[in-house]
Amino acid sequence: MLAKTSLQPLAMSSELPGSNAGFPAGHPPSGDPAGGRPTDAATPVVGAFYDRFPYPGDPLQDGPPPGYNWRWCVDSARAFAFGSLPPRDGSGERPWRILDAGCGTGVSTDYLCHLNPGSRVLAVDISPGTLAVAEERTRRSGAADQVRELRIDQRSLLDLNEEGEFDYINSVGVLHHLDRPEEGLRSLARRLAPTGLLHLFLYADGGRWEIHRTQRALALLGAGTGAEDLRLGRQLLGSLPSDNRLRRHHEERWALDTAADANFADMYLHPQETSYDLERLFAFIASGGLQFAGFSNPEVWDPARLLQGELLERARALPLREQWALVEHLDPAISHFEFFLTLASLPQDLPAEVGDETLLASGGERNRCLWGWPGTSLLGPDLQPLDLEDGDLDLLKALEAAPAGTALGALPLPMETAERARRARRLIRDRVLLRLATTGRAA
Ligand SMILES: C[S@@+](CC[C@H](N)C(=O)[O-])C[C@H]1O[C@@H](n2cnc3c(N)ncnc32)[C@H](O)[C@@H]1O
Repeated sequence: MLAKTSLQPLAMSSELPGSNAGFPAGHPPSGDPAGGRPTDAATPVVGAFYDRFPYPGDPLQDGPPPGYNWRWCVDSARAFAFGSLPPRDGSGERPWRILDAGCGTGVSTDYLCHLNPGSRVLAVDISPGTLAVAEERTRRSGAADQVRELRIDQRSLLDLNEEGEFDYINSVGVLHHLDRPEEGLRSLARRLAPTGLLHLFLYADGGRWEIHRTQRALALLGAGTGAEDLRLGRQLLGSLPSDNRLRRHHEERWALDTAADANFADMYLHPQETSYDLERLFAFIASGGLQFAGFSNPEVWDPARLLQGELLERARALPLREQWALVEHLDPAISHFEFFLTLASLPQDLPAEVGDETLLASGGERNRCLWGWPGTSLLGPDLQPLDLEDGDLDLLKALEAAPAGTALGALPLPMETAERARRARRLIRDRVLLRLATTGRAA
């Protein structure tokens, strides 16, 4: 199933007592212009913290990771962000160049290898203790056998200048642990290919109100960032009155996610965190000269999740940024932002905006991030139930049987053009079918 915990990391406000523990006021500049490797002032403390508590604490297992997370399948992510996919190379693969920046114990790296066969993957992290787990995880899962190259390096994401460009950069729950997140963002932007996609996950203030209070309380009680402090943290949340808001919120929202000690420490004892609201998030993105290319959990930002009727109509009439601001105000439980960025605003090739003829002239591929294939009862990329009709199944099966890149309109199927286009459009909308950018070939 979806590796949920790996997309549910940490956060904390910069006002938090101890959030810059160990650093003098007026932090030293990151990097050493005198010739050292570029670094961040928080790196020694943060690296040591993760050596004590390698994150995420997901168990190791033999064989491929369970299920999928479409955000780590570059084909799915690119089709989502850009509306279509480039063709495969001569060997029938798309050898994406992938960077996992701040890979932690390698849960995301493992999926990135298994969901992107034939790619080249570089995973970096500053914590050797964490990387040892990532090495073991990927060794046991056979990740390196899936890709052309897998490198797991102890490096800062600030220190990648001699690496080339990447088509996909994943950095989940990392930049908000730098003393200077903007420098981290600029470093990643420098490594992004002109049509590359950067996937980030950062803490949101709103849904972390209780966490921030618990962190402050623990700091006042003298808790630091070690094993003994973890015991104190668990004791605090277990002994507050049962109707206490912090305790209730922890039990209802976070107890499962923090069952592993590393995850608990990550949430309540972190030595260096920043979190954002929407306005600061967009200022942060602009500081890296990057373009917002969509949330990777768009359903959360859809006002229809919260409003109906006239109120929804009013919401829909607002510019997109204001719709999101409205959702941020209405849902104080949002605890993170996850989203895609690009170097330039690339023209989107959206199937909804092309006519039937153009749509059927393009090729397509079935999304690999589905449960239940082949069949009519599927779970989609977000594990949402999907009921296909027999005609949809026929179309997908014909696509899989045809040579790669065959135009949807040229698939040998007894199906009228209008019906074929209607089915293809719906399958693309539900992300069962990924459209190819180029004109497909005749059958
Ligand atoms: C919360 S963990 C996230 C791990 C992983 N991305 C995930 O979500 O499963 C943050 C990780 O970022 C790493 N990290 C922090 N600063 C870093 C830096 N400057 N360069 C590379 N990794 C860094 C930490 O060592 C830690 O393993």
